[in-house]
Amino acid sequence: SQKGYDLWLQYNKITDAQLQKNYLNKIQGIKILGNSPTLNVSAEEMQTAWKSFFGKELPEKNSGENILVLGKMDQLPQQLQKNLKSDFENINSEGYIIKEVKFEGNNTILITGKSHIGVLYGSFRLLREMQLHNKLSNLDIYDSSKIQKRVLNHWDNLDRTVERGYAGFSIWDWHLLPDLIKPEYTNYARANASIGINGTVLTNVNANSLVLTEEYIKKVKALAEVFRPYGIQVYLTARFSSPIENGGLETADPLNEEVRQWWKDKADQIYAEIPDFGGFLVKANSEGQPGPNNYGRSHVDGANMLAEAVAPHGGIIMWRAFVYSEHDPEDRAKQAYSEFVPFDGEFADNVLLQVKNGAIDFQPREPFHPLFGAMPNTPLMMEFQITQEYLGFATHLVFLPKLFEETLEEDTYVNGENSTVAKVIDGTLSNKKLTGMAGVANIGNERNWTGHPFGQANWYGFGRLAWDPYMDSGDIAEEWLKMTFTNNEEFVEPMKEMMLESRETVVKYMTPLGLHHIMRTGHHYGPGPWVSNLSRPEWNPVYYHKADSAGVGFDRTSSGSNALEQYADPIAEKYSSPETTPEKYLLWFHHLPWDYEMKNGKTLWYNMASKYQEGVEEVEDMTETWNNMEQYVDEERFEKVSMLLQIQLKEAKWWRDACLLYFQQFSNMEMPEFIPEPA
Ligand code: GCU
Repeated sequence: SQKGYDLWLQYNKITDAQLQKNYLNKIQGIKILGNSPTLNVSAEEMQTAWKSFFGKELPEKNSGENILVLGKMDQLPQQLQKNLKSDFENINSEGYIIKEVKFEGNNTILITGKSHIGVLYGSFRLLREMQLHNKLSNLDIYDSSKIQKRVLNHWDNLDRTVERGYAGFSIWDWHLLPDLIKPEYTNYARANASIGINGTVLTNVNANSLVLTEEYIKKVKALAEVFRPYGIQVYLTARFSSPIENGGLETADPLNEEVRQWWKDKADQIYAEIPDFGGFLVKANSEGQPGPNNYGRSHVDGANMLAEAVAPHGGIIMWRAFVYSEHDPEDRAKQAYSEFVPFDGEFADNVLLQVKNGAIDFQPREPFHPLFGAMPNTPLMMEFQITQEYLGFATHLVFLPKLFEETLEEDTYVNGENSTVAKVIDGTLSNKKLTGMAGVANIGNERNWTGHPFGQANWYGFGRLAWDPYMDSGDIAEEWLKMTFTNNEEFVEPMKEMMLESRETVVKYMTPLGLHHIMRTGHHYGPGPWVSNLSRPEWNPVYYHKADSAGVGFDRTSSGSNALEQYADPIAEKYSSPETTPEKYLLWFHHLPWDYEMKNGKTLWYNMASKYQEGVEEVEDMTETWNNMEQYVDEERFEKVSMLLQIQLKEAKWWRDACLLYFQQFSNMEMPEFIPEPA
């Protein structure tokens, strides 16, 4: 079955007679203006969809009534270009217009844009309208992405293992590249283009400098050629010490002339093969990776050296802000801010600082990273994690766009009210020219790409939010469900609700009330709040929950690490007292006694227990909801999700029992009556 492999591009047969009539009346043929690989892809996609929707081809026609015309602005007849002048003013270079117009005197649906990629995005948009069963009437749609660099980060190693990857091995078959081109590469590009993703970093942030050798550049080039018609640029991770490992130099000091020249030559070499190469993603001086600090130089020195090497070719550098050190006594949550804020405004124009959504590490819930809003003169790129490192791998059903949305909607208050994280990211808050969003991919060589069938929704949702960070996660869930399974409301409604609640559910049974990083290390699967023996203190869960007989939680107020000082006043003030801290962040910012009285009049201990219990009960509800869906879903996907939900249920109980039994030693309070005896 291709059901899982085809992702959200199922193009289910249109069986409703009215709809079918509407579609087939409105579009009776197709005409392509001009010629390019991207236009060919657009035309092919229409044919694929038509065969699947209607069991027939969409005939090519040169003229006539009710044809679909695809072509970019400068291919349109002069008069039409003039008529559409104000429409074109509404879109950017990747945007599209879908509009009913007169073309050579005939009623026509036109898909156009300023570039062929715009036309491709518009084609996918029209097909989405049809997948969602929207009628085609008085079409007048235009849209442009709000963020420029919409990029997947693959943490894929050259031996095909994937760091924090749970969907098999890497889809990049380095061994057989460049000679063997797998159909998966095309389908990967097609899926990404359908949601507007326009870049992919092929390799792990914990980088191997081998990928910068001539042999590998040829392999990368082969992938770039497959992706190009789909508007997807390739990027690589650059290991900072490559000039030593690959170039035979004695240093990688960013101020050394030979080193600078080496990177320039390297960039020239890559661009000679891949003229639209995107640039480099760099993890430097973080978790043991080499970087400019090794030579007494700063992050700015390192980033700007690389920026200079790719600038003549139009490339960019995505420099990661995920730095913290075990030698630094400062709260890990504060270190990136302390390190980077002093450099605001010093990075070259083609550098994006890539910041994780939260200050620790991709937890089920974290307050937004204090760097957002704190560097008005530096373009900040959002980094979300699509792969579920801390959220039950590819085993638990968790709809992440809900998490992404929560971060994007948070108010930083840096320019007064309504200074949301989304506005930092799309550049509108301080007029930034370069913008980006990265998602750590959950893709592997599993036949359904992501392992868990619902993991596909997180890839989909990331793409949609990278295109428009103001999108509603409910709309994303609904689109995805309809396109991936069925439009039947009896399926869509309950499933949408279940997806939207799934994120809060995982927070409840793993890390309620602001608890964080209490997973078993270093795999981060399952509970491990008791772990305290790792070499680096800030890798131990006990560092984060700080449970003792006096209470639980991390004091980040002025009596503790004072991480709160890194936020704008309204937040710093509000969160300084537990009474005014949102309950969801309570133990992130406060160490509170076990009998602390919460809003509902019950103790902290009681509330913690009831959250864990609710989490378990909600997974029970999920299994029930899913069981009622059998008639709407193919057997293969139904069975797989059923089995995974059973594992999730078992593990939600494991989390509840392990955490409550562990914390009870400190609370010394009775287990509330609603907690069952551990099996
Ligand atoms: C996490 C993750 C690592 C990864 C790192 C990073 O710590 O566990 O595997 O390398 O993030 O984002 O660089």
